[in-house]
Amino acid sequence: MRKKKILFVASEAVPFASSGGLGDVIGSLPAALQNASSGEMDVRVIMPLYGSMKDEHRAKLTKLCDTYINLSWRRQYLGIYLLNHNGVTYYFLDNEYYFKRPTLYGSFDDGERYAFFCKAVMESLPIIEFFPDVLHAHDWQSALTVIYLRQRYAWMDGYKNIKSVFTIHNIAYQGVFGHEILGDVFDLSPEDRGVVDYNGAINLMKGAIVCANTVSTVSPTYAMEILSPRFSNGLHHVLEQNKGKLRGILNGIDVDYYNPSNDTEVFANFGIGDIEGKAKNKKELQKMLGLAESPDTPLIAIISRLTGHKGIDLVMAAAEEILRDDVQLIILGQGDYAYEDFFWHLADNHKGKVSTLLMYNKDVSKKIYAGADIFLMPSKSEPCGLAQMIASRYGTVPIVRETGGLYDSIKDIGWVDGGNGFTFAPYSEVELLNSVKRACGLYAQKETWNALVKKVMSVDFSWDKSALTYISMYNDILA
Ligand code: GLC
Repeated sequence: MRKKKILFVASEAVPFASSGGLGDVIGSLPAALQNASSGEMDVRVIMPLYGSMKDEHRAKLTKLCDTYINLSWRRQYLGIYLLNHNGVTYYFLDNEYYFKRPTLYGSFDDGERYAFFCKAVMESLPIIEFFPDVLHAHDWQSALTVIYLRQRYAWMDGYKNIKSVFTIHNIAYQGVFGHEILGDVFDLSPEDRGVVDYNGAINLMKGAIVCANTVSTVSPTYAMEILSPRFSNGLHHVLEQNKGKLRGILNGIDVDYYNPSNDTEVFANFGIGDIEGKAKNKKELQKMLGLAESPDTPLIAIISRLTGHKGIDLVMAAAEEILRDDVQLIILGQGDYAYEDFFWHLADNHKGKVSTLLMYNKDVSKKIYAGADIFLMPSKSEPCGLAQMIASRYGTVPIVRETGGLYDSIKDIGWVDGGNGFTFAPYSEVELLNSVKRACGLYAQKETWNALVKKVMSVDFSWDKSALTYISMYNDILA
């Protein structure tokens, strides 16, 4: 049988470039899909070649070609590189003017950078000789590939039979730009305006929702939530009209990369059978961060982008009350200045009790996942969330708010069939505080707590199940 060809289009993938959950998913789902399909699917990834790629990976790149492509009136250099990693083929699109920047996103010309990327993806297919059966684009940065496919390439040889999937990892980032750059930057013509037009502006995510054969998002609950104005960031009308092609598939994590029993980043390895190693991690973590080395104080961690939808304002409102008790708090993340400032001062005012690390660092995060007791994730909205799964894998019991993928992955210990964490529904600091108190209360009962830690660690958050759901989605599209 001919292998089914799937091409992931994305702006980041672990370990090459990552700013959050998207990178984790793109770095792990392709291999999971290949394994789950017993080799019936050839899943490849195409992404930008960022200046920040580590030398160890850069050294393994093979150059496929140098060429030039058009983006509206521009003629821009395009280099195409290839790399095999964990059995998956990655293509990297090179243009230093666009991608050699200090950060992945946040440049004034992000619209142009990702328009170039998307145009380059479309132009690369004949060069890499890989016309996929399914082009699977992720988030707004890749949305234009789905739009170009339907509006520009669908009648061309090679492209004719390509079906498309667009996955929304976070509806809060839609790629919104003024209409004046429709032709000049996005290389679209006035006839395409209706496809991307939304609320008087160009909305790339909207365009991809309209053009894709299937639209998916990263949890079943989020798929329902984004049909309502409370969660849709304005896109509910479009999603309602395209409801028939909307699916929600829960993310998994790479359980080999996140594996406490052989992780080289943590202070001591441990597993379900020997959770004692966790105590060593806690001790070393406390030492590293200047917290009091107190083994019996519940250590609460937050690892998150510090932005509104992560529920950070609830933590701020409850912080002093939480810190009245014998607890320790670690915050790792960066984001809005007001949040960063708050946590910086909180740590300053509670030396030895609170530690704030205003950064995004995978290695440090693993030490925290391994050393903390309780993981706090009170998101206002959460498409899927991976941190609660990673924390669980490292035996750190999650407290989450019941929304999106948090609701789909964590059930309260009071749940009929027992649960794997602590949850609350109303978006209120009182509810948050309550859950923290419940968790700390149980933490004091060592045996019950250790049983919960083991239970939490044994939950299967691997891709195994969801990969099969993706495969059946592709099969439906290609049927
Ligand atoms: C985004 C979402 C997060 C999700 C991740 C991967 O970062 O905010 O909830 O887990 O994408 O899909």
